[in-house]
Amino acid sequence: MDIKEIVQSVFDRTKGIEDKGKLASYIPELKNVDPDSFGVHISTTNHLNFGVGNYHDKFSIQSIVKVLSLAMAYSLLGEDLWHRVKVEPSGTAFNSLVQLEVENGIPRNPFINAGALVVTDVLLSNLNNPQQDFLDFLKNLSKSNSIAYSNKITASEKKVGYRNAALCNFLKSFHNIDNDPTDVLDFYYKMCSIEMSCEELSQLFLFLANGGCTLHKNSRIITRSQTKRINALMQTCGFYDESGDFAFRVGLPGKSGVGGGIVAVHPKEYAIAVWSPPLNQKGNSYKGMRFLEEFTTRTELSIF
Ligand code: DON
Repeated sequence: MDIKEIVQSVFDRTKGIEDKGKLASYIPELKNVDPDSFGVHISTTNHLNFGVGNYHDKFSIQSIVKVLSLAMAYSLLGEDLWHRVKVEPSGTAFNSLVQLEVENGIPRNPFINAGALVVTDVLLSNLNNPQQDFLDFLKNLSKSNSIAYSNKITASEKKVGYRNAALCNFLKSFHNIDNDPTDVLDFYYKMCSIEMSCEELSQLFLFLANGGCTLHKNSRIITRSQTKRINALMQTCGFYDESGDFAFRVGLPGKSGVGGGIVAVHPKEYAIAVWSPPLNQKGNSYKGMRFLEEFTTRTELSIF
């Protein structure tokens, strides 16, 4: 099978379809991207690297970072983390508040915003210099040296972060946030603002296809068991109330972000990143979903 040929041909076909998505508008700065940008990059455990389209361009990874903040918090806290956040799909939107009250302030999973805020709080409590330490964690995972926060995106989200502020304060009222909510929110927005390209993302996520070790330096980041569990969470919760649909159509663990990026992982085989900014109604990249569906159909490289 010629993976490069399949990536190229699925890319060409997907580029031609009508885009029914819309740019995220609730974070003003996210509207300032070219909606026609479209890039794909695949990195495999046997060292194939291949990209098409705008795969070198950096974009705001947004919620994709929640997998990485989780990996770091899990490596610091181990299984105690699951006293603060559960591992069930929510069936609700990424920024929903409805379950928190009835479930006593314990978020359903670490990928909805409520769960990611708890993970952020764990990082704040356990790191000496959270912003720098988190960036160093990513730099250790990555072959690239140019991963950075975007101050512009951070400021833009902070200005309109009413829902996240509500979530964080609500969590605090249930004693599931230890730090000052303002500090938790600031660090959360910072992490979501990180910019990476499809090439950087697919290479960075390879540790989840490689049993928890980076491929380029063979350095262990998390245990094999933790790797399995993070992949399981991406499979069941990575696309919020569209997680079932993604499993059904694509059949891979994955994570989306409102910047229009999606990363998907085939344990033992590959990591693939797609970026197309317009989003479907559930907040996931319209063309990204379409590309991955056809890619796993053509290659038969889904986990099912
Ligand atoms: O908190 C937010 O709303 C954003 N910083 C991240 C949301 C997001 O990416 C949802 N993913 N599809």
